[in-house]
Amino acid sequence: MTKRTPLIAGNWKMNLDHLQAIALIQKLCWTLNDADHNWDQVEVAIFPPFTDLRSAQTLIEAEKFEVRLGAQDISKYESGAYTGEISGSMLSKLGAKYVLIGHSERRQYHNESDELLNAKVKAAWANSLVPIICVGETLEELETQGQSAVPVAQTIAALSGHETIGEFVIAYEPVWAIGTGKVATPAEAEAVSKAIRAAILENFGGESAQSRILYGGSVKAANVAGFLASGEVDGVLVGGASLDAEEFAGIARFQKHIVL
Ligand code: 13P
Repeated sequence: MTKRTPLIAGNWKMNLDHLQAIALIQKLCWTLNDADHNWDQVEVAIFPPFTDLRSAQTLIEAEKFEVRLGAQDISKYESGAYTGEISGSMLSKLGAKYVLIGHSERRQYHNESDELLNAKVKAAWANSLVPIICVGETLEELETQGQSAVPVAQTIAALSGHETIGEFVIAYEPVWAIGTGKVATPAEAEAVSKAIRAAILENFGGESAQSRILYGGSVKAANVAGFLASGEVDGVLVGGASLDAEEFAGIARFQKHIVL
């Protein structure tokens, strides 16, 4: 079994203009390089707004900074008369490796359906991008269906029906834990991650089941190690705490907090 490299991903959401983005990346670069971050052992990725991607790419390349770049969304279309949309080829030409698909804020505020998200996953693969498929239950769903049912169903819906399955990452983000300060316990994150991995194995086979599964929802430097200690959760998707270079670098240095 090949080892899964932990992925520490920072979703900036709709924060920071392109000048503020440059300042944050610069700080992150100094902080992580200073801390002797081992880039072979922990992958770090940032997800700025679309309007910051070009500046971020230029800076990352100029500094030879090993951080990966990702986008927060992708159009299911390749090009054409789709006002306001951003295509996968535009993103990959800006150096994006990853793209977030189906974040709960897009499911909730933009009515993104499982069917649309399935098409976005296909568009990501068509453009050599790795989709980070976000799944998670609302508080009401947690109370009525338990913790794993919705994330498992959303995972299967995003991955079903494709001719071939490319590389992907799943991010389990309980909606009730996003930006609320309420955090799932490491044991809960581990149990849901196991349920998602078992469903992937059953539906899509062994290679897909080696994909990384992240936890997201009120992650900070102070609580990250608990999620990653068991080896069932392969990284974190961080919102608010990714806007602070010291805090995000502290999350990326999670291994220092794990007592083996
Ligand atoms: P917070 O870390 O701010 O709770 O956000 C989590 C998230 O939605 C990351 O995509």
